[in-house]
Amino acid sequence: MAAYSILSAVLCLEIIVRGMTLPANGLSMNYYMMSCPFAEMTVKNTVSRALQNDPTLAAGLIRMHFHDCFIQGCDASVLTDSTKDNTAEKDSPANLSLRGYEIIDDAKQQLENQCPGVVSCADILAMAARDAVFFVRINLFQAGGPVYDIPKGRKDGRRSRIEDTINLPAPTLNSSELIRMFGQHGFTAQEMVALSGAHTLGVARCSSFKNRLSNFDATHDVDPSIDTQFGRTLSKTCKAGDNAEQPFDATRNTFDNDYYNALQRKAGVLFSDQTLFAGANTRGIVNGYAMNQAMFFFDFQQAMWKMGLLDVKEGSKGEVRGNCRKIN
Ligand code: HEM
Repeated sequence: MAAYSILSAVLCLEIIVRGMTLPANGLSMNYYMMSCPFAEMTVKNTVSRALQNDPTLAAGLIRMHFHDCFIQGCDASVLTDSTKDNTAEKDSPANLSLRGYEIIDDAKQQLENQCPGVVSCADILAMAARDAVFFVRINLFQAGGPVYDIPKGRKDGRRSRIEDTINLPAPTLNSSELIRMFGQHGFTAQEMVALSGAHTLGVARCSSFKNRLSNFDATHDVDPSIDTQFGRTLSKTCKAGDNAEQPFDATRNTFDNDYYNALQRKAGVLFSDQTLFAGANTRGIVNGYAMNQAMFFFDFQQAMWKMGLLDVKEGSKGEVRGNCRKIN
């Protein structure tokens, strides 16, 4: 009994210290402890294996979790395939470059073999995104992303419609518009800037930033917030076509604060990145994270925790899909 009290006190203290509150909606840290004890480990091993083959997929998993949570909540709606009667979220232009679906399928298949009908696709995606941040660091043997745990118990949604994806942020939004949009989901400007730091990983395609360039042969750019030399780099990338990829920062597979340093040098790839340095309400936050990586990690981990709880489905409002690509 005494041991239990001490354990509870330590757990509460940890949650208070981290500034995070456990949701009252049936989620818990050890949700699968009895029903599927190896769930966490199975997802971790699957993500680790996949990233050893292709470390760039870490970015794909983190972005997929974000696109899932912002549309209809974290309910794996982004994972379902279109059918003849319904065009699903994943077929919207904003989602066409999402990557990492096979990793979720792989983990799901193993978990269905271990404990059929227990572990939701929404939880698998949330755990995979968290593990991606962690394994990016391990694989490179250098400082990397924050390590954090998340509550589990999300149910999978039964709706996935292309028209809902209109609510994903466009790369043309300015700092005030981003603050407003994230504010609608309950995030502060600081949390929005911290979450944008996920762009420390991965790439954007030319089609996402070419509107910032006057023409691809020009030596100057349309968007005055781009450093001239960097504008040339973007233009050069775009010469290879709309799908040509530009890393967000110099260390595309390392979770660090280099993204914010790039913004200070006016070398943000998307307009929506660079605007964070231009906006009066966000510039100081960018400077803070550029100076203090530990602060970025701490805020990122808290904001990811919060994002993972957006409009979570519980009970009969959701289901546990047998196949993440199909509603039961
Ligand atoms: C602030 C508003 C945001 C906007 C406007 C935005 C927009 C974009 C765009 C346009 C791309 C490139 C897509 C392409 O060209 O194929 C991208 C990539 C990415 N985004 Fe965001 N994003 C935002 C916030 C976030 C957040 C909150 C996260 C995660 C927490 C995130 C994670 C990523 C990652 C990791 C990539 C790289 C994906 C890859 O390499 O496959 N983004 N984002």
